[in-house]
Amino acid sequence: MLKINLVDKEKKLKSGLEIIILDDLNNTKDKKVLKTLNFEAKDECCELLLQSSKIYVGCEANDYDSIAIAVATAIKKFSSTTLKSAKIHLKDTKNLKAVVEGALLADYKFTNYKSEQKKIKKQEFNIVVDEINKKLEDTLNESIIISEAVNKVRDMVNTTPGDFYPEIMAETAKDIAMETELECKILDEKYLEENSMNAMFSVGIASVHESKLIHLAHKPKNAKKKIVLVGKGLTYDSGGLSLKPADFMTTMKSDKSGGCAVLGIAYAVAKLNLPIELHAIVGAVENMIGGNAYKPDDVLTAKNGKTIEVKNTDAEGRLVLADCLCYAQDEIESIDYIFDYATLTGACVVGVGEYTTGIMGNNQKLKQEAVKHALASGEYATSLDFNRFLRKTIKSDVADINNIASTRYGGAITAGIFLDNFIKEENKDKWIHFDIAGPAYVEKAWGYNPFGASGAGVRMTLEFFKNLK
Ligand code: BES
Ligand code: ZN
Ligand code: ZN
Repeated sequence: MLKINLVDKEKKLKSGLEIIILDDLNNTKDKKVLKTLNFEAKDECCELLLQSSKIYVGCEANDYDSIAIAVATAIKKFSSTTLKSAKIHLKDTKNLKAVVEGALLADYKFTNYKSEQKKIKKQEFNIVVDEINKKLEDTLNESIIISEAVNKVRDMVNTTPGDFYPEIMAETAKDIAMETELECKILDEKYLEENSMNAMFSVGIASVHESKLIHLAHKPKNAKKKIVLVGKGLTYDSGGLSLKPADFMTTMKSDKSGGCAVLGIAYAVAKLNLPIELHAIVGAVENMIGGNAYKPDDVLTAKNGKTIEVKNTDAEGRLVLADCLCYAQDEIESIDYIFDYATLTGACVVGVGEYTTGIMGNNQKLKQEAVKHALASGEYATSLDFNRFLRKTIKSDVADINNIASTRYGGAITAGIFLDNFIKEENKDKWIHFDIAGPAYVEKAWGYNPFGASGAGVRMTLEFFKNLK
């Protein structure tokens, strides 16, 4: 990882490239040469002037997104050189978080499956400030941990289904717990069967890999709130017997993104030692076909006793989450917040685009807060509302509810409403569902995000925690 240092202005740095963020071409002596190079002070416009050891990068606004993207663009240019160090003069220290995260998130590369491994370059990025103080040091430290957590999640999600299946996800969770002193419980299929978690159990039944229920916990003495996170950890989603068409099956290694995000958040919460009791629960399951596979027409009973008619085995995430949500609420008392994260529906991607998370729940105020903190953290999110008519569309003639809706419209919302059936009355206003199907995995680079996994959900949640009163 790129090494980042805070440096006092008084300390003269001899070497290295200087990164200069420009919002106006008139603000530089190099205007002439930049003009001849067709440089404009616009987003993602970047020019390296070797003679004067400068990287110029355009930027149109003084907000997190624009600054982080500008720094990301410049750092990618820097990392394409053999130079050892770069620096930036940070005038507005409010932007420190954006500068650090923009740099570290852009510097991420996933090359585990390339036969030729490039030598890892040791590069350094110095952030020069007028005066170092404790607050800036804390912000730097915090942003480094957040970026580490995001990059950890990206690594997990990018790993192939052949190399990352439920048992491996459980091992990875154990490793994280060891490193950060989290409590760790791994439950297996026997537990699912003995505890009437028939919905989750059925989804994984045709896989050669055993399903795992992962439960990490952070319990500091000074905990101010009790928070539960639940993640969809489909290490592969073939669709099951309602098999996905070939073109839709590729990228389904990313169906574990919600579960990975939850593990990444737990890692960061422990590293930052946040004063909250946090439970991270992941349903790690593989949805496959086989002679014993669960079938459309089956009726499954979830842990809370509700019966579910399976109409489509590709709507499996909600079945896994249903039991995980029940488990969480049965095991953990007096919860302050319960959040779930899932690449739950293609409909969410169609509805709000591939960069945005859909936020759902019953508590309007809580949803607005979640959107606000997501945007402040650099993630894109929007609120999607339930209504009484969509609620009716998952009624079943055979069982209590169907696992898909009777309408072709509003699929992200009807999936959210399905989950609401597994939220206890006392937790209705404490619950949020994050559909991260779009941003979790994008098959092109965007801003400081590389091709593939983005680590969606991590930054927005940590920002929410930071603002807890
Ligand atoms: N994992 C998929 C959702 C998904 C689609 C995530 C595209 C990321 C990108 C989920 O399990 C699924 O297959 N959902 C179905 C639901 C349908 C059967 C009601 C879908 O979205 O088509
Ligand atoms: Zn599916
Ligand atoms: Zn899925």
